[in-house]
Amino acid sequence: MRVLSGIQPSGSLHLGNYFGMMRKMIEYQQESELFCFIANYHAMTSVSDGKALAKGTLEAAANFLALGMDPEKSTFWVQSDLPEVQELTWILSNFTPMGLLERCHSYKDKVARGIHANHGLFAYPVLMSADILLFQSDKVPVGKDQKQHVEVTRDIAMKVNNVWGEVFTLPEPEIDDHVATVPGLDGQKMSKSYGNTIDLFLDDKALRKQVMRIVTDPTPVEEPKNPDTCNVFQIYRLFLDAEGQAALRRRYEAGGMGYGEVKQELFETIRDTFAPFAERRRELLADADGLRKVLAQGAEKARYVANKTMRKVRKKSGIAY
Ligand code: ADP
Ligand code: TRP
Repeated sequence: MRVLSGIQPSGSLHLGNYFGMMRKMIEYQQESELFCFIANYHAMTSVSDGKALAKGTLEAAANFLALGMDPEKSTFWVQSDLPEVQELTWILSNFTPMGLLERCHSYKDKVARGIHANHGLFAYPVLMSADILLFQSDKVPVGKDQKQHVEVTRDIAMKVNNVWGEVFTLPEPEIDDHVATVPGLDGQKMSKSYGNTIDLFLDDKALRKQVMRIVTDPTPVEEPKNPDTCNVFQIYRLFLDAEGQAALRRRYEAGGMGYGEVKQELFETIRDTFAPFAERRRELLADADGLRKVLAQGAEKARYVANKTMRKVRKKSGIAY
């Protein structure tokens, strides 16, 4: 079974990205044929500073590799190293009804928040469809917010298959319900664009500051507290097994535990969980050429598979004449 997903290189990595997507991708290497890439073309919908995009791309690569992505076991590359994806995007655009894109929540939400929409933002799901279909992916693990884009991909693939025969595999989105949406500091979805993240690779002082900013209610220390409505609990539970969660729940319900105390514990847990990976990440970033070499090898592997699809598509479309 072939599993594919991408992550945008915009901004630093937060717990939502890690628990919503990366951890699962890294686990998939063991049991599936994993395709994982850095979606730098997608990031252009929000980043126009070239230096920032290039730096973000190398950082995203270092993040994945440090957290356990193994380029021997998986295919790991940068989206723009395969221009074939742009070629396929154009071809798919001709099978994409306007209404399908107009209905996309992610686009509509951004417009509603006052982001000035351009064609890149509107056509974003078509590029994402090309990413998925180019590699004939069976499964696409994403956060809940991206599920609709995988459904759009299926719609487009069906339209193409109806006209040209079985060209594309229909992908399934995969969402882990347990961590479907990681909440941010304010209880809303954790997201770079909401400024409510807890980031993975911060120094201790900055990390502690973020954790201390988690919004809590004014229940006094001695009184019992409700873990189900507490933002600290909702984040802390991601690091705990069932037993650990039950124990923390009992401390909430017993009273006598302040939010400051539980936030301090959460800070230490996050710090200790990611410290070994931070060291590896520093080493990787210190050798940018080494990183580029790993990515170029990944692109070669990816191209082999992409070419198989493109040969078929070029023939069916008549581009190959
Ligand atoms: P952001 O919302 O911060 O811009 P991205 O859109 O770059 O994050 O998301 C990268 C990946 O991480 C996607 O698969 C997305 O669904 C997942 N993801 C991001 N935030 C969360 C979250 N709060 N909970 C679960 N998954 C998330
Ligand atoms: N749009 C995804 C996000 O913001 C990233 C992405 C791009 C992706 N192409 C993809 C995810 C293909 C899965 C499959 O999170």
